[in-house]
Amino acid sequence: MRLLAFLSTVAVCAAAVNRTATNGWGSTPSQRHYINATQALAAINAAVDYSNSIGVPNDIAILDPSSQLVAFLRMDNAYLGSVDISMKKAKTVTYFNGLFPSYGLLNRSQTMGDLFGIEETNSGLVVFGGGQPIYDYDGYFIGAIGVSGGTVAQDIATSVHGAESIGTTITM
Ligand SMILES: *[C@@H]1O[C@H](CO)[C@@H](O)[C@H](O)[C@H]1NC(C)=O
Ligand SMILES: *[C@@H]1O[C@H](CO)[C@@H](O)[C@H](O)[C@H]1NC(C)=O
Ligand SMILES: *[C@@H]1O[C@H](CO)[C@@H](O)[C@H](O)[C@H]1NC(C)=O
Repeated sequence: MRLLAFLSTVAVCAAAVNRTATNGWGSTPSQRHYINATQALAAINAAVDYSNSIGVPNDIAILDPSSQLVAFLRMDNAYLGSVDISMKKAKTVTYFNGLFPSYGLLNRSQTMGDLFGIEETNSGLVVFGGGQPIYDYDGYFIGAIGVSGGTVAQDIATSVHGAESIGTTITM
């Protein structure tokens, strides 16, 4: 219940997007929208361009709203450990219908936070930055991007660049 209350709060805070039109609450199958391979590749390319501009080799994952992998790239010299982290950042976004970036869970997952331990559910979530929801220009939630390889701030900036190359995203 507390998690649901939290999600409602987040949804209200980010009311710029029409969430009834997404794959989340209130949607029907005919309303669902999914990122396609062309869009996913464009988002990867934008994230790669940004990664190169800041000199950070990244792992970049794109999931559709069902949390299935659409595209992935491990840039030359990107950490092997970041392969899993990038995917789990994106999964953290898609598992909660794209209502918040991965860092939306950071504060409340700390000791004494009301979502303490949530990162251990679902075979592993990532509660720090670098996972961003992707909304298309009509406000439909179409997928998520996860980036890992730099500092958290760099990963957030890179994932936002990727998402915004093909649509919009949410920052908190
Ligand atoms: C949101 O999208 C749904 C589905 O397309 C539509 O029925 C509804 O009128 C929209 N709501 C607003 C406030 O735009
Ligand atoms: C992928 O989605 C974009 C944006 O909606 C669209 O313009 C493009 O035609 C789609 N590509 C394919 C192959 O369906
Ligand atoms: C987390 O808490 C810090 C310190 O109170 C605050 O500055 C920050 O905005 C919070 N982050 C989120 C995503 O709520």
